[in-house]
Amino acid sequence: MNQRVLVASNRGPISYQFGADGSLTGRRGGGGMIAGVTDGLAALGDEASVTWICAALSDADRVIARREGGPRDEDGIPVRMLDIPPDVFGRAYNNVANSALWFLLHQLFATPDQPQFGAGFRRDWDAYVAYNEMFADALFQEAGAQEAAGDLRILVQDYHLCLVPRLLRDRLGGAAQNAGVGYFCHTPWAPPDYYRMLPADIARALLDGILGADQAGFHAARWATAFMDCCAELLGADIEKAHNERPGARLAAAGRVSGPAGRVTYRGHVTEVAVHPLGVDAPALRERARAGDVRAHAGVLRQAAGDRKLIVRVDRTELSKNIVRGLAAYRELLATRPQWRGRVVHLAFAYPSRSELTEYRVYTERVRQLALEISGEFSTPDWNPLILEVKDDYPRSLAACALADVLLVNPIRDGMNLVAQEGPVLSERGCALVLSREAGAAATLAADALLVNPFDITETAEALHQALVMSDEERQRRSAALAATAAADPPARWLGDQLASLAR
Ligand code: F6P
Repeated sequence: MNQRVLVASNRGPISYQFGADGSLTGRRGGGGMIAGVTDGLAALGDEASVTWICAALSDADRVIARREGGPRDEDGIPVRMLDIPPDVFGRAYNNVANSALWFLLHQLFATPDQPQFGAGFRRDWDAYVAYNEMFADALFQEAGAQEAAGDLRILVQDYHLCLVPRLLRDRLGGAAQNAGVGYFCHTPWAPPDYYRMLPADIARALLDGILGADQAGFHAARWATAFMDCCAELLGADIEKAHNERPGARLAAAGRVSGPAGRVTYRGHVTEVAVHPLGVDAPALRERARAGDVRAHAGVLRQAAGDRKLIVRVDRTELSKNIVRGLAAYRELLATRPQWRGRVVHLAFAYPSRSELTEYRVYTERVRQLALEISGEFSTPDWNPLILEVKDDYPRSLAACALADVLLVNPIRDGMNLVAQEGPVLSERGCALVLSREAGAAATLAADALLVNPFDITETAEALHQALVMSDEERQRRSAALAATAAADPPARWLGDQLASLAR
């Protein structure tokens, strides 16, 4: 074992719940970032000693955080949960990270009304700073504890922790030279014209925070480019872009959409900007899909659909996922192409997300309402055109992907998108992928997907039609090519590449 790795993220690899009897049970954290980092770390095996620092997200987590000796995740990695005061955590996570930064980076604001940065937001921002400081303090402590033990790599994840790399560099002082600090952005990044909606000092502080890292990683070249453009325009930083740097460009030879995107020099420090698309661990995913629980769900779904074609979507009910327009496109398909009535079923899995936020509760209700309208409009005694499931069920999601004839992934904007990659890997008979051009995954999957403008409902309906009429042969060919692309950047490679370039 010669490598020390510290990971920092808001959500950790394990989180706890109280049972009815007050006992505590741990469950693996959800989401693409957790899946990527967990599987990437698992592949390091004995080569690294890892500690993962995360926030206590619930009262149950706080009980664990206050105990002597932290928990371990499912792979045995020690987890240090930070007991952040609930008010500070709520303001930082809900009000800044999720209500301001998430909307900004995905360009989701309905701008006639939002955002509004007043005195209340300044208090929330102070909490975001305090929350980032708590992470930097914890990392600094862990770094000190591990100093003697060889190479140290620190991997900071996501928009919750933008300030951490700079805060950590300040704390480490000269010792920073012995540690490689990486920051990875799992979301899109917004171009300067949109990004500068933030108050100027906050916009600069976030960029400056990330530039404390030695390396800033993104899933797609266009997000890396937008980030560098923001650094140039808002900070006046010195930017050196790797050539071939137009949005969506293939950065490396041999057709891989990964590699260096450029470098930013600011305050005397150089941050390498790189593109590392995150794909899937195809063998592990297929193995999981062979399990009895997935097979049982597949049987039930197949029976519900009969011999009809299946259009599948699997998402959190997240505003960026564009579920409402996806349903509207399905409605338009049935309205304008009556030949599909009775011959297709749409399985729409829209799992709960961020229900603390009003916008998400309202959006969830719109999804439910629209689904009811579609069923009311087209159902017949022996055909239910739409099955909306809102209860999170991972094995059922895998089963639906395995059976899909068409997979619909139409986000308004998405850092990468794992479902677009998991679907073809899991597909039994080949699936056609209708994919938003605004997903980071479009950079790798474009050649074999049917790309759509996510705002264009008519174009999406037409793409669904094209996907449904595609010959078996073409669907299988495209699906196999999509699966091969998704499998080319497994988490082990995604994380390994980052660690290797930090070592350089
Ligand atoms: O898109 C980046 C990401 O970290 C996802 O991995 C994750 O699903 C989301 O953002 C954060 O979600 P949550 O607020 O539920 O932790």
